[in-house]
Amino acid sequence: MSTLLEQLSTLRTETAEDIRQAQDEEALASVFSAVLGRQGRLTQILRGLGSLPREERPEAGRAGNECKRFLEDLHAERRGELANLAISEELSAEGIDVTLPGRPWTLGKLHPSTVALREIYTIFRGLGFSIYEGREVESDEYNFELLNMPPGHPARDMWDTFYTTAPGIILRTHTSPGQIHAMREYAPNPIRIILPGKVYRHEDVTARAESQFYQVEGLVVGRTISLSDLKGTVQHFADRIYGSGRRVRFRKSYFPFTEPSVEVDIDCMLCRAQGCRICKYTGWLEIMGAGMVHPKVLANGGYDPAEWSGFAFGMGPERVAMLKYAITDIRLFYTNDARFLEQMV
Ligand code: DAH
Repeated sequence: MSTLLEQLSTLRTETAEDIRQAQDEEALASVFSAVLGRQGRLTQILRGLGSLPREERPEAGRAGNECKRFLEDLHAERRGELANLAISEELSAEGIDVTLPGRPWTLGKLHPSTVALREIYTIFRGLGFSIYEGREVESDEYNFELLNMPPGHPARDMWDTFYTTAPGIILRTHTSPGQIHAMREYAPNPIRIILPGKVYRHEDVTARAESQFYQVEGLVVGRTISLSDLKGTVQHFADRIYGSGRRVRFRKSYFPFTEPSVEVDIDCMLCRAQGCRICKYTGWLEIMGAGMVHPKVLANGGYDPAEWSGFAFGMGPERVAMLKYAITDIRLFYTNDARFLEQMV
């Protein structure tokens, strides 16, 4: 018994010294396996405990385990030391140049379409409008029929449509179908909403036309809504977004879902209505289509046109941004040219 305890004590002192002396991971690993490995000296001593007389086993077992734990801890500690040493050696060998300037953070910016959309939201929020989101994949029924354009109606030609292989399923060509969704949801209550979102048109892409862009639709339904409410709303919007004192002009127009229909122009802020390339030398800029909601559309939405009336409008936020910042090519919005995007806001 006493020889076993002595053996353990010698082993402990020697191994502790070997561990402390180990200069790299490899040396440390060989010390470890020689003592604590499967065939290691300590492992063998522990294995032999079973052959001791019964009354000696507890004390010998305790001493053996204590020795094992001690050496294991010491080994783990030295391993940590060696790892840190390796890192600091590597760092000093690499010779980091702390005077080298860091890489600058590149800050993202909001896309011009988003900037325009948010400005529009802010203005209409101030007038008590909520935002209603329609769907981008629509049915022919909502995009056309319920907006007073039955199949074969010539006005459908105003929108070049992307059809899908599913019968009657299209990409919406305008945000107007959202009017029907909203009316069906809100009827028979008054409505004051804007409906922003992407729309899709099967068009040749040019400086003036994209095949996808945003629209912001507006819809107000109530018992006493008149064209003068539309005028006041548009005047307020024009003043807020393009600067106060804008002149606003309504021109008669045609949309199947409004009666009467108008095209809204404001005086060209780029040339102070003197006539320039952007306003095509007319002094006026078209900013939206609008009108009084057609009785059939009101009825399709679940409102009795004898009691209810409403106005609606539709505009393009990209166009809003183009006019505001004198951007002459709509394709710039979707070609991801950082030189263009960086100039915004
Ligand atoms: N949906 C029309 C378009 O895309 C724009 C429009 C015109 C919307 C008149 C309206 C409206 O709500 O009243 O060309």
